[in-house]
Amino acid sequence: MQVPEATDVKPAEQYNELFQVLEDAARFYKATLRESSIAVDYLKGRRVSGQLARDYRLGYAPAQALHLDRYFGPDKLDALMRAGLVKRGESGRISARFRNRIMFPIRDRRGRVIGFGGRALDDSQPKYLNSPESSVFHKGNTLYGLFELRKARSKVPRVIVVEGYLDVLALAQHGILNTVATLGTATTQDHLRQLFRETHELVFCFDGDRAGRQAAWRAVQQLLPLLREGLEARFMFLPEGDDPDRLVHREGNEAFLERMTAATPLPNYFFEHLSTGLDLSNAGGRARLAELAKPLLQTLPEGILKELMHEELAKHVGTSVGKLTPLIGRNEAPARGRNLRLTTSSPVRMAMTMLLNEPRLAHQVPVPHEISALKLPGAALLIDVLETIRNNPHLNSASLVERYRNSEHQQFLLKLLTWRPPAHNYDLLMQFRHTMERLAVESLAQTVDHLLEKDAREGLTPDERRELQEALARKVRVHS
Ligand code: GTP
Ligand code: MN
Repeated sequence: MQVPEATDVKPAEQYNELFQVLEDAARFYKATLRESSIAVDYLKGRRVSGQLARDYRLGYAPAQALHLDRYFGPDKLDALMRAGLVKRGESGRISARFRNRIMFPIRDRRGRVIGFGGRALDDSQPKYLNSPESSVFHKGNTLYGLFELRKARSKVPRVIVVEGYLDVLALAQHGILNTVATLGTATTQDHLRQLFRETHELVFCFDGDRAGRQAAWRAVQQLLPLLREGLEARFMFLPEGDDPDRLVHREGNEAFLERMTAATPLPNYFFEHLSTGLDLSNAGGRARLAELAKPLLQTLPEGILKELMHEELAKHVGTSVGKLTPLIGRNEAPARGRNLRLTTSSPVRMAMTMLLNEPRLAHQVPVPHEISALKLPGAALLIDVLETIRNNPHLNSASLVERYRNSEHQQFLLKLLTWRPPAHNYDLLMQFRHTMERLAVESLAQTVDHLLEKDAREGLTPDERRELQEALARKVRVHS
């Protein structure tokens, strides 16, 4: 019955037997799946392709009370127990823990099977059953799909966090491979730390129900202490009753990615959530908001985000920001919606516009050095403006444009100045950072193209060859 297959997994010596029995069980379940038409039909009904089932090593646990113990023989009983795959009832009777369930092997970062999730094929309860905690399986630090994600790509621009195994599979089925799921537990800081090793942006996409919304807020609380400079979290709120699985099958990949682009940044969600049910037009409501927000904001690491969130709080609450420079005071403009992206302009123009309106962005956001080599219309002026601001840290918008009086660029710059930046300063920071990253990637690509072409034409000097190697290496790292 057992089908031999190649494995790239090297069990750690210490847990050799446990890992081995888990790995063998995964193969057993997989082989059983192939022979069970109800299980195969179930997966078809859930629109899981054969390829995907293979990639995620899906299996099927038969309905009989005894199967794994018979298959493995008595000398493996102890290991099977420790792995939580069989249990001994009160009467001392042995039985398989997982019966008549689709089996999702859960793998650690290195690809070793450490446990299973099992979904009932019918209405039996519980709908999902997970392996119990063991010496190799801890739900609080395990994410379903993390191994597959790491295997697929070295660094991803963002990771989507969902609730269910089948959400991960549904998104993968639609080509969205950068997804992980928690194992029916709340998101922990341990989860988040692991994810921020793979990416700098997390997008939470929990179910559109009460539990999903609670899970999102819980994630915020875990996230706040971890949001160092350059890390970002956003939240997708699905229609009531929806989950990522249904949504992506119904609307398709593009609609899903569009929703993802419009996901709510953490700061917006933070204030929206805390303000819910409060009447901010009265002093009591505003005081309550401050009371709720302050202890949470205290947990943020020192940095720009913390400052901005405090300013934002002050703005909501209506007190003076005190000694902080009124970054946002200038744009008291009517409240605006969330979608503030300057999508119609080129990235160069977007960056210029933001810089002209908020010159201090050049100090607040790291400007990638690749920008200086960028060759695009307007890039020379952008580089010049960045340089000017760097050399004159106190320039404001007016004095900046003043420096270009009588230059050919004056009219153009004045026109860009009429754009009104978003009311929320953190949106501006994020937008500027994203734009700078896009430009850096573009510049790297240009450098690589140029050097490859020169190499083919006339060869490269040793310096150029080194430059090419560095650019290629960096391109892999930036990876957007
Ligand atoms: P399907 O009905 O198969 O589409 O699952 P779902 O994704 O709609 O399930 P749900 O949103 O209820 O659950 C999401 C995740 O929570 C699952 O993937 C499991 O990890 C976990 N979960 C759900 N139900 C149970 C349960 O009864 N027990 C346990 N331990 N975990 C569960
Ligand atoms: Mn579902």
